[in-house]
Amino acid sequence: MNGDLLDISYGEGAIQERVRQLGCELAADYAGKNPVFIGVLNGAFIFLADLVRACEFPLELRFLRASSYGSAAVTSGVVKLSDSVSSLPLTGRHVLIVEDILDSGVTLSRIRELILAESPASLRLCAFLDKTASRQVPIEADYVGFSCGPSFFVGYGLDYAERYRNLPYIGVLKPEIYGGT
Ligand code: IMP
Ligand code: MG
Repeated sequence: MNGDLLDISYGEGAIQERVRQLGCELAADYAGKNPVFIGVLNGAFIFLADLVRACEFPLELRFLRASSYGSAAVTSGVVKLSDSVSSLPLTGRHVLIVEDILDSGVTLSRIRELILAESPASLRLCAFLDKTASRQVPIEADYVGFSCGPSFFVGYGLDYAERYRNLPYIGVLKPEIYGGT
């Protein structure tokens, strides 16, 4: 285990098993609909890469970049979006937004607004981790890997100041690393 972590909350095996199950759930809902999965960069890149390989049906991929944290461990509440989807034809498409973690909900709400303006046929949200008790705006994911507590997690795409994304498991970062208590 990486020495900056307090524990391993979700090991590689548990992650892969859950992703496989999500792929089956998505197949039941999306097979034959040629959905567009939109990955929220940077955090979702590893989850999305695993998820699409667990989805045995035709789909398309897009990416959107969002950032709200900078290098702090607490959300700034201001979401910066780039690689706007407005130039992409999402009208009439079945869209699934894929996020690493749903926390305050500010990021996904903003992205949802943006995509809804494109008049998709449907829009659903998929988050690998869901900090269910941390919501500041009302939004829920339709597909969730694991519901988790309010700790600060890293690994499997999740970062602190751009580090730890490459860990193949998810763990809680020691508070002294980010100046927390
Ligand atoms: P929200 O807008 O507060 O829901 O935050 C969503 C974004 O914050 C996620 O896409 C992550 O990039 C980041 N985030 C939230 N919680 C964590 C965490 O525990 N570890 C790493 N990043 C996090
Ligand atoms: Mg993110």
